[in-house]
Amino acid sequence: MALQAPEGTRDLLPAEARFWKYFQNTAADIFSRYGYQPIETPLFEQTELFVRGIGEATDVVSKEMFVAISGENMNKLLSGGTIKNKSRLSLRPEGTASVVRAIAQHNLVTPGGAPAKLMYAGPMFRAERPQKGRQRQFNQIGIECLGAEDPSVDAEAIIMLMRFYQALGIKFDTLRLLVNSMGCEHCRPAYRDSVRDFLLAHADELCDECKHRAETNPLRAFDCKKEACVKVMEEAPRITDALCDDCKEHYAEVKRYLTEAGFDFIEDHTLVRGLDYYTRTVFEVQVTEGMGSQNAIGGGGRYDKLMAEVGGSDTPGFGFALGYERCLLALEAQGFELDSKATVDFYVACVDDSVKSTAFGLVQALRDAGYCGDMDHQHRSLKSQFKQAGKMNASFALVLGPDELSEGKVTCRNMEEHTEVALSLDALRAALTENRAASTSLAALVSSLDEK
Ligand code: HAM
Repeated sequence: MALQAPEGTRDLLPAEARFWKYFQNTAADIFSRYGYQPIETPLFEQTELFVRGIGEATDVVSKEMFVAISGENMNKLLSGGTIKNKSRLSLRPEGTASVVRAIAQHNLVTPGGAPAKLMYAGPMFRAERPQKGRQRQFNQIGIECLGAEDPSVDAEAIIMLMRFYQALGIKFDTLRLLVNSMGCEHCRPAYRDSVRDFLLAHADELCDECKHRAETNPLRAFDCKKEACVKVMEEAPRITDALCDDCKEHYAEVKRYLTEAGFDFIEDHTLVRGLDYYTRTVFEVQVTEGMGSQNAIGGGGRYDKLMAEVGGSDTPGFGFALGYERCLLALEAQGFELDSKATVDFYVACVDDSVKSTAFGLVQALRDAGYCGDMDHQHRSLKSQFKQAGKMNASFALVLGPDELSEGKVTCRNMEEHTEVALSLDALRAALTENRAASTSLAALVSSLDEK
């Protein structure tokens, strides 16, 4: 049997790969208006970064990381040896820890300086059970803002994300913005203990995993999707009742900014998100129609202790990431169809092989002048070549045959209007040399030559 892509991965075929590029360009266009600059980090990092950054007890780290190992180190382990800590590598399950590591490593935030605002796009890897909207390799776009703890940073980023969804064309009335505050190092420990006590008191109603979570990471019980656990957790102590005055004030300010900007949100005290680095604001955007259970198209929050956790100086941060594949599912559920047709400027068709060399030269000259197009490389009939020009959505078919060649001409057929003109080959070549930057459309170039 022919080999298939690994389970939980998808090929982005040309129409979708083109849309992914458009998606990234739209994000870059909007996010750069808010001061975000691009950053690229490695696809794998030391495992310790994710253990320390995301949290050992999270599902992402404890169950879902793909280990990356060289053949040499694999052989060492298989023969009972050990490998150095720095050789213990994992594919990145998300981008935040890596960006924060890069900011610390390259000193991108200076004390008293402006915040570092960075954006990234690319694949993330999580060994989850694949289902609609949940893959093992998926694409994210994310932003991280390090160096400012003001609530206006949180609100600004959330608004920016909502603007992006709007620009993509996801219907606003199908979006649900959930917000919560997770407290800080002063108020969260007591809250965590109260949730642990609550879990222990309800242990006989909880799944085994949540019983275990009571001891390791009680707040993760809010993430459990099992019906019985969800029901129990509805009665659990609320973080919003346990926030210290500073966190209360911070949260109130974030909500005030959102309200003043005209954004509706739902306060969800059970929203804890699956990564341990969050402090204070957390949020998630869900789509209410046509998505099934994987309906979160983006989310993020504040992480004021993460930088220190990965070895940098104490620096507050806020960020979010959004899933490309889930956004596409949301758009498709709303009737959007990927544009399967790329368009090209020209297709050069040869009447027979005697003109192939001239055609070959003309195709290069057209491309050098900036136009997109192709020619036949399979000695196909003129009819098939025209069919191909149509398939490629070419604006012009340029036809060369022995008759045209002997007259020094090329026939230019406007494929949409079904009109033809004969142009001087020399004049066309000269115009192409002059028009190296393709500042003129091919249609305008053809009509200017036709008039001469
Ligand atoms: P996250 O909620 O784990 O947050 O992922 C962000 C988004 O990535 C999700 O809302 C979803 O759209 C998409 N996503 C996550 N897992 C999958 C999957 N298995 N298949 C398809 N799509 C998926 C983070 O990753 C944080 N780093 C966000 C952040 C940035 N927080 C602060 N800064």
